[in-house]
Amino acid sequence: MDLIISPGQALRGNISLPGDKSISHRAALFAALAEGESHFENFLVAGVTEAMLGALEALGIRWELTGTSLKVEGKCLGRVFEKHQELENLFYHLDCGNSATTMRLLAGALAANSVPATLDGTEGLRRRPMQRIIDPLRQMGAKIESKNGKAPLVFQAAPLPLRAIDYQMPVASAQVKSCLLLAGLGANGTIRITEPGPSRDHTERMLRMMGVRVKSQKHLDQGNPRYETQLTPPANSRLAPLQLKIPGDFSAAAFIIVAALITPGSELVLKDVGLNPTRTGLLDVLQEMGGRIEVHYVPVDQEYEPSGNIFVQHSELQGTIVDGSRVVRMIDEFPAFAVAAAYAKGLTLVKEAAELRHKESDRIASVCHELRELGVKVDETADGFSLQGGNPLKGGEVHSHMDHRLAMSLAVAGLASDATLIVHEGDIFRESFPEFIETLRRLGAQIDEEE
Ligand code: S3P
Repeated sequence: MDLIISPGQALRGNISLPGDKSISHRAALFAALAEGESHFENFLVAGVTEAMLGALEALGIRWELTGTSLKVEGKCLGRVFEKHQELENLFYHLDCGNSATTMRLLAGALAANSVPATLDGTEGLRRRPMQRIIDPLRQMGAKIESKNGKAPLVFQAAPLPLRAIDYQMPVASAQVKSCLLLAGLGANGTIRITEPGPSRDHTERMLRMMGVRVKSQKHLDQGNPRYETQLTPPANSRLAPLQLKIPGDFSAAAFIIVAALITPGSELVLKDVGLNPTRTGLLDVLQEMGGRIEVHYVPVDQEYEPSGNIFVQHSELQGTIVDGSRVVRMIDEFPAFAVAAAYAKGLTLVKEAAELRHKESDRIASVCHELRELGVKVDETADGFSLQGGNPLKGGEVHSHMDHRLAMSLAVAGLASDATLIVHEGDIFRESFPEFIETLRRLGAQIDEEE
């Protein structure tokens, strides 16, 4: 399905966003490991979270979704996947769809419980790097096979408890960290994980709320910041169930914020958006670029996720430089950011962002290629891009590369371009933000869908 965007309509109004994708994934999986029933409001119902729920169902976890309210019957850590012990030769086949978060987080939970299973997914997911979880999980004692470090991943039963390792991650990644923390729940002591950047900390916050001892600290190693997380498994294997309202997804908000900034006459409010500081790098960058954005925090329980309302107005933007820990704090926002940079006057440089090549598409190559199609002067580098912005964008035809965030970012670019823009296979946005088109239409945008 294609998206057809007719430019020139100002965006105005108040909106709420679907639940955060990362928190929704964790909510469903962690609740399965808890003792008792968990309840979540504003759960994200989308392609990627359906993959997680489907895999949990295949493992025998009972859950019920009513609108966006999710109830999960926890089976208690250690007893979650016990069926395989009763039925010899039982092997689970778990389809993770298009969702790397589902695959990497489930891998940690399977390892902690020594569950024999195959984890597989779409062609797109089979291209994503998995060696980054296979290596440390094997060090912990998990038995995993794969071809070239990619899915399908085959888990064989392994002796428990796992070894509590001290692991230095070469690249900051919340998915890898979360995988290892979950595996750490089944380890024989305190696991220690160190990262070179501040990846999102939703797992740590949620596990603390479930009664697990998780310590996070930052230190310097030869002048370089290192982010360390330690987890001690609960002595009685019990995790408390959760009752939470999931905040709106900041990564979904990012598209609407950029849309308002670049489209003349726009002025809007995004309500109840998650504002975890490990996620909001884009806000800092856009404000520095001259974006008229105000944030009003709502007081919440300290353990839980900060959230608030964001007020945005159309703005004249200036180019900027993004590197270092900012990259990690806005890792999913580069396609949207690149669109803001294309409309900003002057030079924008992105450095130290090679990790973008391992997302749903190679986001350095795909973003640069599609923006060039729209007449933007942009050069790809090994670890980022340089872009000369501020000239009108042409409209025309672009391709999503089957990457949900690229599809939505290109659609946003079309809201302020000189002519109609068609995003081929743009409907991939349903993977993470099914209300994307409806939300923009409600704010005044003109977007059509065509087979
Ligand atoms: C996610 C972490 C990020 C992000 C992904 C969701 C998570 O991946 O890109 O969309 O929920 O932990 P990495 O941590 O691998 O960078």
